[in-house]
Order: sequence, then structure tokens, then C-alpha cells
Amino acid sequence: MIKLHDKYFKPFVSAKEIDAALQRLADEIAEDVGDEIPVFVGILNGSFMLTSDFVKKYPKTCEVTFIKLASYEGVKSTEDIQRLIGLTQDLTGRTVIILEDIIDTGNTLHEVHRIFKNENVKSLKIATLFYKPEAYKKDFKLHYVGIEIPNKFIVGYGLDYDGLGRNLPEVYQIKETQHMTNLVLFGPPGAGKGTQAEFLKEKYNLVHISTGDVFRYNMKNDTALGMLAKSYIEKGGLVPDQVTIDMLKAEVEKNADANGFIFDGFPRTNAQAEALDQLMDSKDSQINAMIALEVDDEVLVKRLLERGKTSGRKDDADEAVIRNRIKVYYDETAILKDYYTAQDKYHGVDGVGSIEDITERLSGVIDKL
Ligand code: IMP
Ligand code: MG
Repeated sequence: MIKLHDKYFKPFVSAKEIDAALQRLADEIAEDVGDEIPVFVGILNGSFMLTSDFVKKYPKTCEVTFIKLASYEGVKSTEDIQRLIGLTQDLTGRTVIILEDIIDTGNTLHEVHRIFKNENVKSLKIATLFYKPEAYKKDFKLHYVGIEIPNKFIVGYGLDYDGLGRNLPEVYQIKETQHMTNLVLFGPPGAGKGTQAEFLKEKYNLVHISTGDVFRYNMKNDTALGMLAKSYIEKGGLVPDQVTIDMLKAEVEKNADANGFIFDGFPRTNAQAEALDQLMDSKDSQINAMIALEVDDEVLVKRLLERGKTSGRKDDADEAVIRNRIKVYYDETAILKDYYTAQDKYHGVDGVGSIEDITERLSGVIDKL
């Protein structure tokens, strides 16, 4: 991922794919042109890199020249095309092939046709490396198209975002959601996960999603997902991963402009972790870290028994029950520790000390992400 000005972009078309597309275009054009010596006209600025690479692949004699037009402001095409450098040679009777980096609305192409209207060329053909069919609003024929792409802003390989990105050898696409920090928070019962989640949420402006809370909320409010979940729970079964994921997805979408999320209580299995990765990927994002609060069993037991004296929670009163809950936690999360360690995303944090000290330790991890 890269950042240019205020926006984030993800890899989209590799240098190799660009190279292959240019080769195809060069071969196709060379074949069509036959014995003519064509004049390739690159449209500056965007097509400087492609023109250079293209003509090196062109297997026969040719001429190369440029015109310079400008239309884009930021990430939007404008109607108003400026002619900055026009034609500087007589092209009467010549076979002209326009080399465009990208055809978007077609406004620039319209201007190109206007420029050539009175030039008396033998033929005018249009070749473009990239083409956004959903954005194209004109009827001009596109004779040679390298790669069709969706209607999303791209940079690299000559294409810029407000001046930046032209030098990149590959092409990047704008990210749907901007940069997020997404954490999976783990900790055995009594580790202080809830308390820390509250602090982190404030400090980093994150949305805390506790699957347990989301389930309870949906079931209480009889949402479609809540009723679905209830139907499994009432039969004594587990809620299928897909139902949980759909619920998380709805929460993520509800908070589309969040700085990120703290996932709490999910994932519990490898399959869930994979599903969460996919969900994040579909949002052009990812899980950045699994942070586990590490607290010694004896300390946990002591803390929970202490809490049990005042909380009235039955499961905090019995030492055997507490020990079993801790064991279940380690049995469950060991797999996930492996899963996130393999991705280099596991961070164990010492969960013994004052609340402030622990928040500081957690912040130390998050600030480095
Ligand atoms: P059109 O006039 O809307 O067809 O756009 C053509 C010109 O706009 C191209 O030559 C580029 O300079 C610019 N452009 C269009 N789409 C993009 C994009 O996704 N990224 C960067 N520049 C673009
Ligand atoms: Mg251009």
C-alpha cells in the first residue's frame, strides 16, 4: 500500500502485466499498419512512460511525437481540456496513432479529434493502455485497448494524483476505505480486556465491536440477524460463522468512516480468522495486530475471586470454575496465536500492573503498527 497526499492506494496492475499489454498492442498495431511508417502521438503528461516503453516494443520503423493536454483536477476529470502544446509538424497523409495512458470520460479524446479534424491525416487511430468502460461517455471508436479497468481512480506508470505517482513502475488503485487500524484484542477472563478496550477506543478513535454485545443487541431488538442467531442458540447449537461474519460486516459498514476497529470475542477459530481477513480485504483493509493481554493464572484467579465478592457473578465465585474458564481460553486461543504469529501480527502484552501502565504498553504496540 502507498500514500500520496491524503489518499491511500493499493497495488493493482503489475509492471509485468503492463509490459504484456504493451507487447500485445505493439504487435497488433504493427500487423495492421503493414508497410506504412506510422506517427505515434503520445498525449502528455500521462503517456510519457507508456510511449517510451511502447515504441521500444514496436518492431518496425516509426515516428514519435507528443501533444500536451490537461484535464484532470485531483481525482475527477473535467470537461475543460487545455491545449498546452499542440501539433508541431505537418501530418498530412500520415497514419497517426494516438497513444493514451487512459481513457476515462472521453473528454480528452474529444479534444484530440478536434485537433486532428483539419490535419488531413490518412487515418487516425486510438490506442490506450487503460480504459474505463463504465466512465466512457463518447462514441469515438477505440481501436486498440490494453486493459479494461473498473471506474476507480488509479495512479502510477505515468498517471498521477495531483502531481504524484507518475514515476511508479506499476499501477495502484485508490482504496475504498482509507487507512484503518484494526485490532483483535485477546485476553483470558480477568485480564482487563474490557477496561483496556474502553481506553484504546477513546485514545485511537476506534470502534469497539464485542461479538457478544452485538449478538445480544441484535437478539434483543429482533433484527433479522438476531432472529437467525436465536434460532441456532435456542436449538442448543452454535451460531454458524457466516451469521456472525454477516453481523460483523453490518457493524463495520455502519461505521464506514471509522479509524479502525477493535474486535473482541472474535475470531475464535481459524475459519473465523480467515473469514475476518476476507471481510477486511473486501473493505480494502486488514487486521493489523492481534494483541493479547498476558496475565499469570494465579493472578487471574485472585483477581476474579476478588471481583466475585462484589460483582455477584456466579462464574467469578468458584475457583474451579475460574480455572476451567482460563483453561478454555488458552485451549481456544492457542490456534489463533499460531494463526496471527504466522502473519507476524501477534503481540503479547504484559497485563499485570496499573491500568495506566497497561494502556501505555498497549499503546506502545499500536503506535508502532
Ligand atoms: P478523460 O478525458 O476523462 O477520458 O480522461 C483522460 C485523462 O484524464 C487521462 O489522460 C489522464 O490524464 C486523466 N485520468 C483519467 N482517469 C485517471 C485515473 O484513474 N488516474 C489518473 N489520471 C486519470
Ligand atoms: Mg492523459
